[in-house]
Amino acid sequence: MAVNVNDNFGLIQNNYLFVEIARRVEEYQKANPDVELIKMGIGDVTRPLAKTVLKAFHDAVDELGQADTFRGYGPEQGYDFLIEDVIKNDYNTIGVELKNSEVFISDGAKCDTGNFQELFSADNTIAVTDPVYPVYVDSNVMAGRSGKMGDDGFYENIVYLPCTEENDFVPALPEEDVDIIYLCYPNNPTGTTLTKDQLKEWVDYAHEHDALILFDAAYESFIKTENVPHSIFEIEGAKEVAVEFRSYSKVAGFTGTRCAYCVVPEEVYVKDSEGNDVQLNPLWNRRQSTKFNGVSYPVQRAAQAIYTEEGKKEIQENLDYYVENAKVIREGLEKIGLHVYGGVDSPYIWFKTPNDIDSWSFFDILLNDAHVVSTPGAGFGPSGEGYIRLTSFNTYENTVEAMERISKLEF
Ligand code: MLT
Repeated sequence: MAVNVNDNFGLIQNNYLFVEIARRVEEYQKANPDVELIKMGIGDVTRPLAKTVLKAFHDAVDELGQADTFRGYGPEQGYDFLIEDVIKNDYNTIGVELKNSEVFISDGAKCDTGNFQELFSADNTIAVTDPVYPVYVDSNVMAGRSGKMGDDGFYENIVYLPCTEENDFVPALPEEDVDIIYLCYPNNPTGTTLTKDQLKEWVDYAHEHDALILFDAAYESFIKTENVPHSIFEIEGAKEVAVEFRSYSKVAGFTGTRCAYCVVPEEVYVKDSEGNDVQLNPLWNRRQSTKFNGVSYPVQRAAQAIYTEEGKKEIQENLDYYVENAKVIREGLEKIGLHVYGGVDSPYIWFKTPNDIDSWSFFDILLNDAHVVSTPGAGFGPSGEGYIRLTSFNTYENTVEAMERISKLEF
């Protein structure tokens, strides 16, 4: 007997971007054990869980230790107590009405955005902004939608929408018909945003071309600028053409705790191979019921605590802390003459390398000479070449220190 592998895995880049960075950093640290690295690479939060969240977490764990409050399997879609708070706090406040059955609690936006493509046939054309969060591309490569990667770093069957200094990081609408469009705003990795009018163009495009938008709003809580939409459902007509992903990772420090959700409105329909309408919501529900057993009860209780008055205040303090760091980074890089983007409505700061140094070489310079870990823009796609991403998820002191170190570099 021979077991045949999914050949699509052979089309994928060897290592997931953040695994490759971790490997390089570990190698460096082994060779230089005394060097104190400042890590501004992967977007992993550093502030501890808020007090109110922690208390709810503990209390729920205690409930599991008592026969009369013990719970086993929960609903695959999440507990209503959390879903109701999501709708009330994250959507009703911006004028969006949702049913409980349209919200699916999960263990992460990475999993949701990676898994969602399973609902679609392999012959759909996907479009991604470039640079892009690698999960959207890699999960579609695994599913056989990409074709081969050319020498230029582009997969032959994926439509790339460049976002660079030249277009102010606003992607142009695709010239060709595409079926599934991944948008992430505030953007990972560039930290840039779209206005309501700009996002409306995408919703209109989706209506005109029978396309679907998979909208990743994992960084929504960093938005401060008015007229930047917190949800795609603020845009008229979006409920018929969009699915939205949100996460508690960056909002409330849940990168290790794991909790997120995705909204699949009942209005979204796609087609079967005979051209009949198929409602998307029951498909995702079916997929989750089969492959997912829900997020643990204490984690959902911890997430719910974010919506209490105290919880909201504490979470905001953490967010403000990161926003202040982002300001330090932006100003520090600008002061030494670099072209800096993002970092206003986002924890990510995106900058052009000096003297057109390529991303990985500048990553090495930052690592070896400034002892700062960054993410090379090229790791997010061909249009990220020549850029670097830094995150504001560190202590204030380390952030200031990192800027001092970088300002002493000679390029
Ligand atoms: C990033 O650094 O881009 C994020 O940590 C990715 C993620 O949330 O999975």
